[in-house]
Amino acid sequence: MTDAPKDSPLSINIRDMDINDLAPVYHLGETLFTSDLYPYIYRTWDQWEVIGLYNTDPEYCLVAEVEDQLAGFILGTIINKASWVYGYIIWLGVNPSFHRRGIADRLVDKLVERMIDDGARFMMADTDPENIPAVKFFTRKGFGNVRKHIFLSLNLSKHEYYGKLIAYEREKAERQVWKRPRRHPHQS
Ligand SMILES: CC(C)(COP(=O)(O)OP(=O)(O)OC[C@H]1O[C@@H](n2cnc3c(N)ncnc32)[C@H](O)[C@@H]1OP(=O)(O)O)[C@@H](O)C(=O)NCCC(=O)NCCS
Repeated sequence: MTDAPKDSPLSINIRDMDINDLAPVYHLGETLFTSDLYPYIYRTWDQWEVIGLYNTDPEYCLVAEVEDQLAGFILGTIINKASWVYGYIIWLGVNPSFHRRGIADRLVDKLVERMIDDGARFMMADTDPENIPAVKFFTRKGFGNVRKHIFLSLNLSKHEYYGKLIAYEREKAERQVWKRPRRHPHQS
């Protein structure tokens, strides 16, 4: 894929995601949500995330195309809580060949328009605090009221108590393999 010259206007087409986009969207996300940059985002991105949202919220799954090439995607959902309707941007990604060309801008605008139509009066988005492009992007779009969320993790195998539980489960599974009745040689 060749980078379009930065000063030439792009012809960006925003459309509903369809079934043929599932694999390309997943693969584009894999190149964007990398473990070194954003460890927590990376851990939750998988093909089931894309398939699941496409099944539950197809109207909030959009892709951007530039000359029939996948240039970006946005996946969102609507949350109804009490009398409030919140639009939530769950995933947003743009192919680096097309960064800073207004693609995320167009994707967010289209999604927000749809969500307003469906009653949303409040939008939410989240990202890693180190993800400066995304933080700057959302800030420019008018998102604010930033709250930092602390993620904690625990390696269960290395934990004194849970590690023993894991070892116990492993031994139990091994014992069951041993106990499995062996077939009589004449049984089919
Ligand atoms: C964040 C991201 C979606 C932005 O996509 P994009 O199409 O390049 O964004 P746009 O061209 O619409 O940017 C609009 C504005 O956002 C801000 N912005 C976007 N990227 C920026 C960057 N790298 N540095 C500083 N500001 C940035 C700028 O204000 C920009 O306007 P300008 O180019 O006129 O200065 C893109 O960088 C990306 O895919 N990142 C990896 C995935 C990710 O982090 N997703 C978000 C969390 S799910």
